[in-house]
Amino acid sequence: MSVQKIQIFDTTLRDGEQVPGCKLNVDEKLVIARQLELLGVDVIEAGFPVSSPGDFEAVKAIAAQTKEITVCGLSRAVEQDILTAAEALTHAKRPRIHTGIGTSESHINFKLRTTQEKVLERAVEAVRLAKRFVEDVEFYAEDAGRTDNTFLARVCEAAIKAGATVLNIPDTTGYCLPDEYGAKIKYLVDNVRGIERVTLSTHCHNDLGLATANSIAGAINGARQIECTINGVGERAGNTALEEVVMIMRQHPYLNLQTNVNSKLLSEASAMVSHMMRMPVQPNKAIVGANAFSHSSGIHQDGVIKHRETYEIIDPRDVGVLDSSIVLTARSGRAALAFRLQKIGYNFDKSTLDKAYASFLEVADRAKEVHDKDLHVLVEKENLLV
Ligand code: KIV
Ligand code: ZN
Repeated sequence: MSVQKIQIFDTTLRDGEQVPGCKLNVDEKLVIARQLELLGVDVIEAGFPVSSPGDFEAVKAIAAQTKEITVCGLSRAVEQDILTAAEALTHAKRPRIHTGIGTSESHINFKLRTTQEKVLERAVEAVRLAKRFVEDVEFYAEDAGRTDNTFLARVCEAAIKAGATVLNIPDTTGYCLPDEYGAKIKYLVDNVRGIERVTLSTHCHNDLGLATANSIAGAINGARQIECTINGVGERAGNTALEEVVMIMRQHPYLNLQTNVNSKLLSEASAMVSHMMRMPVQPNKAIVGANAFSHSSGIHQDGVIKHRETYEIIDPRDVGVLDSSIVLTARSGRAALAFRLQKIGYNFDKSTLDKAYASFLEVADRAKEVHDKDLHVLVEKENLLV
């Protein structure tokens, strides 16, 4: 099978920024947009222009100040939303309007209080209207994860006929299992007329911790765009984490799925977004967490010191981390202590190391972590140099 290009659609500045406390001003959004462009994402969803004057300005500024990248603005299937998105995107080199409507029973019955036929009509009208302003129109079927596949296929077919270039299949509530979401994408590939003319996109939320797995299942089954955010920021439990899907495709080349992302910039992008959004990254977060490349138990440390690949599937330098770290705790063994002591200039014979290790364990039982400065004190206190 030939290698398939997966477009990375970053929605950190739209779905990610909806999180309480994560609001960004126009300047901060611009800085992140430039970083995303450097990173190599294909599409930036810059905001939801009708939602506030500030968001309108941010989308406008990003549209005007980015170069080759596609800049996208969100709108509901509402005339004023679409007109405002079109206006904000006027100066974009590659503008995209992202418009759509809820398609699941609960969205139709409880939120929209309408019928399937009316939803179909509104979908078509929205795509047609957006198409008057931009060539590239992405249609989203909100809550597609819980939408009956037959109706979803009808909506997708109608959106394609109306001129959509991208079809977004959001698992808005993070409900699907990977097999189910993958099968949904496959069903659309097999049953929607005209599907070969458009790009199918995943947009998964993480309510059950499955956003990344679902996005990859979608790509394996024919989606060619993944919507995601840096650090997985987003509503409730968040969105698919960009760094995770990128590294999964990279670490599993037999999937034949490739992105343009320069993975060496992932850790920098993560730190920037975390800082600007005032949203700490959990230490055990895959790829970009502080502990992602640190080893603290004796068995693991011994293995990594002998050969990095025993306990690391990713070379930390591939994601912009200088090196793995060996953290000294009461669970560390002699090998890790000797390794750390050597790094700071002490080359002890076996009996001196035994003495150092006994004293180290006493210190380590009192402290959460033993740092280099503690080791210097220990060497001096125990007279290990004489
Ligand atoms: O989760 C979702 O359904 C969305 C749409 C607005 C694309 O964010
Ligand atoms: Zn979303």
